[in-house]
Amino acid sequence: MKDRGYYSQFGGAFIPEILVPTFDELEREFEKARSDPNFWNEYTALMASYSGRPTPLTYAENLSQHFGGARIYIKREDLNHTGAHKANNVMGQGLLVQRMGKRRVIAETGAGQHGVATATMAAKLGLECTIYMGEVDVERQRPNVFWMEQLGATVVPVREGSRTLKDAINEAFRDWVSNMHTTHYVLGTVCGPHPFPTMVTYFQSIIGQEARRQVLEATGKLPERVYACVGGGSNAMGVFSGFLEDPVELVAVEAGGKGLDSGAHAARIAGNAGTVGIAQGYKTYFIQNTEGQMLDTHSVAAGLDYVGVSPILAHLHGTKRVRFEAATDAEVVSALKLTIRKEGLIPALESSHAFAQAFKEAGDLSRDDVIVVNQSGRGDKDIFTVADAFDDPGWRDFIRQKAEAYRA
Ligand SMILES: Cc1ncc(COP(=O)(O)O)c(C=O)c1O
Repeated sequence: MKDRGYYSQFGGAFIPEILVPTFDELEREFEKARSDPNFWNEYTALMASYSGRPTPLTYAENLSQHFGGARIYIKREDLNHTGAHKANNVMGQGLLVQRMGKRRVIAETGAGQHGVATATMAAKLGLECTIYMGEVDVERQRPNVFWMEQLGATVVPVREGSRTLKDAINEAFRDWVSNMHTTHYVLGTVCGPHPFPTMVTYFQSIIGQEARRQVLEATGKLPERVYACVGGGSNAMGVFSGFLEDPVELVAVEAGGKGLDSGAHAARIAGNAGTVGIAQGYKTYFIQNTEGQMLDTHSVAAGLDYVGVSPILAHLHGTKRVRFEAATDAEVVSALKLTIRKEGLIPALESSHAFAQAFKEAGDLSRDDVIVVNQSGRGDKDIFTVADAFDDPGWRDFIRQKAEAYRA
């Protein structure tokens, strides 16, 4: 097991001895499922009937005209049940949980999308569910906390450290060590110890398989570039998987926060802020100090506000297969505004990073060129953050009235 799960120097499984049998069981079950030809069919049938897959590829005609360059196509992961690509991974792991006969699931969540998806899966499959979420994220993603609780999950606010995603992951691992016989940890992205990066990529590759087929159908050619935002990296690995063997440029967009010089961002690779280290059970670029203490990150998008990055993406950066860029909070908010107005689409703040970078580049390409932007999720969950960023007076009045009504 120790030698497996490496992508050049990145990845591995740095886990406490006590968890080794649990990881062995998970890897065994995953490999068995992956080599069973019926399993992928069972998975895609479930995603079709429960999550509306295949999600469409939408031609963004107005945005394409606006920039006057490449034709822009949008892969609509926002149309999954629960509003993001997170459902792909969660339902896949749900099928594995059933195979392992476990009765309880736990998960970490940043933006709350992975938590909502996990709570949904648990409700559907009749499993007990606990979600760990940093206290800061609980505050900024209240609508998702509400839905997780309605779905029957216990949401535990994590008050350690920076009170964001990395702290929620630490807490979920602590739970798992105490409850591994009954519990499966539904890790939400392509990070963590092996086999999670490989396994989550496998489930998310459904995005890329569909997108490749759809873009060929729609345009008769492969795209020049594919854009995806990167928190841990699961929607990026999902869509990139479809094009890895093709002459297609893959662009990963990290959170540039308040600017790469500000220190307030999460651009581990594009911002040169990450150094190679081992934490949370795997080896990758982390934003850390020289003693290996994780530092605080910032992004307007909770789901990108994370210190580490997928070991697979770190490897693909090393081999120059994936180009890393960053978009700032301000660029993201204006890309979101433009997308809403021009296309009637409301991407999540996370996804808006991919849009922002595509918009910077679309005008330099020609009309014969095609680009695909992965809309990893929908923006409904962001209404509080976005209404503040847009400084919307009607929304401010609404919140004030609500507050007064509660006080009365
Ligand atoms: C809509 C959306 N997109 C992207 C992400 C980032 O995760 P990943 O990089 O694993 O796709 C999140 C995480 O919560 C999310 O909710």
